Amino acid sequence: MVSGRFDGRVALVTGAGSGIGAACAARLAEEGACVGALDVNAAGARATAATIRARGGTGMALTCDVSDEKQVEAAVAEMAASFGRVDVLHSNAAVFDPAVYGRDRELESLDVAVWDRTMEVNLRGAMLMVKHTVPVMPDGGAIVLTSSVSALVGDAVHAAYGASKAALIGFTRYVATMYGPRGIRCNAVAPALVLTKAAQRAMTPAQLADKAAERLLPWACAVEDVAHLVAFLTCDESRCLTGQTLVLDSGTLAHRPQHAVERWRSRP
Ligand SMILES: NC(=O)c1ccc[n+]([C@@H]2O[C@H](COP(=O)([O-])OP(=O)(O)OC[C@H]3O[C@@H](n4cnc5c(N)ncnc54)[C@H](O)[C@@H]3O)[C@@H](O)[C@H]2O)c1
Repeated sequence: MVSGRFDGRVALVTGAGSGIGAACAARLAEEGACVGALDVNAAGARATAATIRARGGTGMALTCDVSDEKQVEAAVAEMAASFGRVDVLHSNAAVFDPAVYGRDRELESLDVAVWDRTMEVNLRGAMLMVKHTVPVMPDGGAIVLTSSVSALVGDAVHAAYGASKAALIGFTRYVATMYGPRGIRCNAVAPALVLTKAAQRAMTPAQLADKAAERLLPWACAVEDVAHLVAFLTCDESRCLTGQTLVLDSGTLAHRPQHAVERWRSRP
């Protein structure tokens, strides 16, 4: 066990049953935090908590749909009852499944239910998590919301997803402003493609190749890269950082993509 920046701290991570959330929960626990691994997928939440405990940390599974206020209230109350308070919130859950994200395509034929479910989970879910966690942060705290590069540029598909992630960037500034005076910081992370199972399932090989071509660096972000950043943004080393969105994209948005695509296509 690495002694760490989160010794004695309590962290709550949503969407912790797989992918980025599972890695962030594990990372905060490795550095000493008692972690609540929250997910609508009970088996996923249990697996993450079990992994944390198997490595000598403290992990508790919480089954909760973040779009449902009663469930959020109950999950946060369980954290407070078990650990006394929450110091760190990573609100990371989002709809990434084929039934919603997979049907978030052309607007003319968009099923409004797809738009609504995307907003319910990605945006209302984050708001509900903040709403109910802030009252159990008596000594200040750090909040990170998972946005996406999809918030910062347009695309031919996924308007609901992109709009929900863009709204989170604005929401980050409001939370930072409202609760800064109480010592609560709020920042967002905006990753480009992270090769989780969910992301790989959602993309065709051609789309994955295009993403690779758009990166300036030869490597994509891994879940551990997001976990490093989330750990930094929620530990005391970033005590003066609030209201910001940090883009983690291997250079994807730092340039005009067609140039890199041409260079990639002309490689021998
Ligand atoms: N993977 C990427 O390329 C990428 C890029 C940018 C941003 N993101 C964001 O990172 C986050 C995690 O993505 P991931 O790739 O790890 O996906 P993932 O599907 O592995 O993780 C999302 C988790 O959220 C959970 N979840 C879904 N709906 C929920 C609900 N209503 N209540 C509680 N939990 C719920 C899922 O069960 C899942 O465990 C998401 O916010 C996603 O939008 C991912």
